[in-house]
Amino acid sequence: MKPYIYITRKLPDEVIAPLLEKYEVKMWEKEDVVVPRSVLLEEASRADALLTMLSDQVNEELFSVSTKLKIVANLAVGFDNIDLAAASAHGVAICNTPDVLTDATADLTFGLLMATARRIVEAAEFVKEGNWKSWSPLLLAGNDIHHKTIGIVGMGSIGAAVAKRAFGFDMKVLYHNRSRKVELESQLGAAYCSFDELVEQADFIVCLTPLTPETRNLFTRAVFKRMKDNAVFINASRGPVVNEEELYDALVAGDIAAAGLDVFDKEPIDKNHPLLSLSNVVALPHIGSASIDTRMNMMRLCVENIDAVLSGKEPKTLVKK
Ligand code: GLV
Ligand code: GLV
Repeated sequence: MKPYIYITRKLPDEVIAPLLEKYEVKMWEKEDVVVPRSVLLEEASRADALLTMLSDQVNEELFSVSTKLKIVANLAVGFDNIDLAAASAHGVAICNTPDVLTDATADLTFGLLMATARRIVEAAEFVKEGNWKSWSPLLLAGNDIHHKTIGIVGMGSIGAAVAKRAFGFDMKVLYHNRSRKVELESQLGAAYCSFDELVEQADFIVCLTPLTPETRNLFTRAVFKRMKDNAVFINASRGPVVNEEELYDALVAGDIAAAGLDVFDKEPIDKNHPLLSLSNVVALPHIGSASIDTRMNMMRLCVENIDAVLSGKEPKTLVKK
């Protein structure tokens, strides 16, 4: 019997074609609907490998029914949807998709920063809605980006790639991270500082830290209050790093100028969420790595990792515990 691979979302046929000779492969048939939990658990109970999305909870409940499971390949660099301790207790390898998405995610993060600072989305809607009656000196005037200070919270590879883009815009780069990145300090003139110094000094605070117990609820009202009044906050990591109610209060009270958000506490965000009623919020549907080339590369990497583990080889990108 061929080993069985279950994929929790419909992927293009060309991605799974290389697997079909050696493996039995089944995909959840919908492209834009999350696999129901009962279906996932049923499939997991007979799967040798799972290819999962960041919207799937891969936890003890799942591992305990998955007696044959050897690998979970998650189509994301983040793996906060996976209980690593439970995976290791059950001897299941966990793989993610680092590196292949670094530049695409940095491009989107910097694009979101620019869109938020220069009110690009609001301005585009303004034109399409027929509101453009005359050119005027301060019409939709936003914040400068060039020569300002960017503060990057979470200086992993994506943070470093954002710093490189900021350097090209003549920005001063501050960063906060668990460990110092001395090579970036010399390459980009990035300066390491404490979290408090960063939030007080930066004009743009860009959150790229993974979601962990330490970073959950990191950005609270007290933190927004310490930021400059004209600061722009960007989140391209995970929603729960930010206290959304307190971000809303901060934006309404004018503690900061604007926010650009690619991620939310609950995804998809409800269209009646208070944050979406604010004109100084740019909201995107978690599309950090969503270029066609990058998403295809991420899928191929997941497939290679699965094939490696099921063939008794080392996967390319095993998550380190
Ligand atoms: C996306 O958010 C990812 O972790 O790849
Ligand atoms: C976060 O995901 C990072 O790479 O900084």
